[in-house]
Amino acid sequence: MSAPTPRVAAAVDRADAAVRQLQLTLISRLKEELGRGGPKAAVTVCRDEAQQLTDSVGKAQDLAIGRTSHKIRNPRNAPRAWAAGTVASSAGRPITGARPAVFDLGDRVGVLRPIGQMAMCETCHGPREQVEAAIGDVLRTSYPDDQAVGFAAGDLRGWFWVEVLLAPR
Ligand code: HEC
Repeated sequence: MSAPTPRVAAAVDRADAAVRQLQLTLISRLKEELGRGGPKAAVTVCRDEAQQLTDSVGKAQDLAIGRTSHKIRNPRNAPRAWAAGTVASSAGRPITGARPAVFDLGDRVGVLRPIGQMAMCETCHGPREQVEAAIGDVLRTSYPDDQAVGFAAGDLRGWFWVEVLLAPR
């Protein structure tokens, strides 16, 4: 979609507002818990609250939203069919090499926005040895197929995805 119609542009604006809200919600909850209880407390918050916080942003904004990656921790975060090609082909890139993308889904618009790894993500998504030392037991029992380790700051960690219904014509 090179020249988006006003209808598509409005849907993409709604998607981006929801992404900003979700990002702010998750990061502030994470920082709060890291400060209060350290990685052990924070990992249970990510495990027990991330999905719920994501769903409540989706409900509040009246759209579908989530996070995904080429290396996922929670199987519920597997890419949607429309996003899978971009997620796979961008695997292993630095964040600077990842392009946001918009997809025509008929009555809806699909939006992908890249998520970069930062230093504060390392305790849970950094080199496996480092992650296990901090919180290995929780991750091993909660996510037996965890792939979301081995990221360095500046890597493409994953994506926010959004599906927004187009306004009626
Ligand atoms: C305290 C541990 C912890 C920290 C720190 C942490 N995460 Fe996570 N992360 C998790 C857990 C647990 C999940 C699975 C939660 C879920 O979605 O059900 C997760 C899931 C994700 C996902 C969804 C895809 C997947 O792998 O399932 C992304 C994207 C992500 N994290 C990015 C980040 C980024 C970026 C940072 C740094 C700003 C970060 N995480 C910091 C524990 C952590």
